Amino acid sequence: MLLDFSLPGGPENKKMENLDPYLKAEIQRRKFLEWIGLSSLALTLPAISLPGCTTSPDKAEEIPDFKNVFDLEEMSGKVMGKDAIDYLNGGADDSKTVKANVEAYQRIQIRARRLIDVSTISTKVELFGKTLDNPIILSPVGFQKFFHPEGEIASAKASVKKKHQMIVSSVSNYSVNEIATQSQADLWFQLYPTTNREVTKKLLERAEKAGCKVCVLTVDTPVIGNRERGGTTLTKLINSKELKMGNYEGILPEGTGIDDPGLTWEIIAWLRANCNMKIVLKGIVTREDAALALEYGADGIIVSNHGGRQLESLRSTIDCLPEIVEEIDGKIPVLIDGGIRRGTDIFKALALGATAVCIGRPFCWGLGALGQEGVEIALDILKGELVRDMQLAGAASIEKITRDFVIRI
Ligand SMILES: Cc1cc2nc3c(=O)[nH]c(=O)nc-3n(C[C@H](O)[C@H](O)[C@H](O)COP(=O)(O)O)c2cc1C
Repeated sequence: MLLDFSLPGGPENKKMENLDPYLKAEIQRRKFLEWIGLSSLALTLPAISLPGCTTSPDKAEEIPDFKNVFDLEEMSGKVMGKDAIDYLNGGADDSKTVKANVEAYQRIQIRARRLIDVSTISTKVELFGKTLDNPIILSPVGFQKFFHPEGEIASAKASVKKKHQMIVSSVSNYSVNEIATQSQADLWFQLYPTTNREVTKKLLERAEKAGCKVCVLTVDTPVIGNRERGGTTLTKLINSKELKMGNYEGILPEGTGIDDPGLTWEIIAWLRANCNMKIVLKGIVTREDAALALEYGADGIIVSNHGGRQLESLRSTIDCLPEIVEEIDGKIPVLIDGGIRRGTDIFKALALGATAVCIGRPFCWGLGALGQEGVEIALDILKGELVRDMQLAGAASIEKITRDFVIRI
């Protein structure tokens, strides 16, 4: 018997008829999971084949044509459960900072130069002693199994195939070791220190054992932001038995929180004494803290407001960038994330002094929509846009993208 989860003759059935076959199959799979009594958490199950319903496309041409990352966002919104969509796209309070991050890029315009040889483009960047193929890095995003059963492993495999650096979250579902082993990725590890430093030490040990050379310390999370959309889901995720937090397996005593409201600048010296990784501070949004990052010996910083998920009413990250770049004055790399959706956004951030950029939601839209393949599509789109924009603007390599290329309106 074929399982059909569309409503016979109903409006939903009409809508389904017009859908791409792959999308239809994915919706049917997810409806089936709901039908057997599982909500978004059911996405932790391995992909299952329903009779008469393929869960992965047989031929590449069956995958819809995604023109930009917003097409992936749309598809992920059709196939993911509501809880997962809210958790992924939600922000703090009224999500004004989420919007500000995106909108601020529209207040910056590009000053293109002409008659420059752009027949060959190099997107390479040097970062922490390594040459990266391109400056587009996957931000740490927790609980990726909530978006797709293969979670962080799918993202890491895509990052290897498409040559992007990936940062694994402390609260990944697969452990950093599983991700490194299964994808062969050269990962960076994002750290949420717990109040129990013995637990934090073990997290660092696990990351180093998995080959991580860079520790990204998130400094904007003394407590979790007021996420009215997706907030209760996060609490459920943290306590979920199904979506376990792989890195904490067997080391987190009952009742120990995964954030530390008592954290101060002394953590940098403590990290130096307890690991050999480079230390990058993620969440710096002011000149004053950039100066302290230098004083306390950080190896790099990421200008970030956690994608607008922590404190509402922060400035957009691209608006914070210039004062921080000025303060750092080339002494350590300055990265940025938040609201980057287009190649032109990446170009503008690099022009304003970022060494590289990180992206969060865009690659997760790809993950939610199509698993590894969707992440690959998201990365291809963003890198493809960047290369074309560099050609159109007249900058043949990343170092040639200077401050003169942009103007604020
Ligand atoms: C669903 C979700 C989960 C996240 N989890 C983490 C995390 O575990 N650790 C962290 O430092 N940042 C986390 N972030 C913040 C991202 O690393 C990044 O700062 C943000 O997504 C960038 O903004 P963008 O989504 O607009 O690109 C998360 C963001 C999202 C959307």
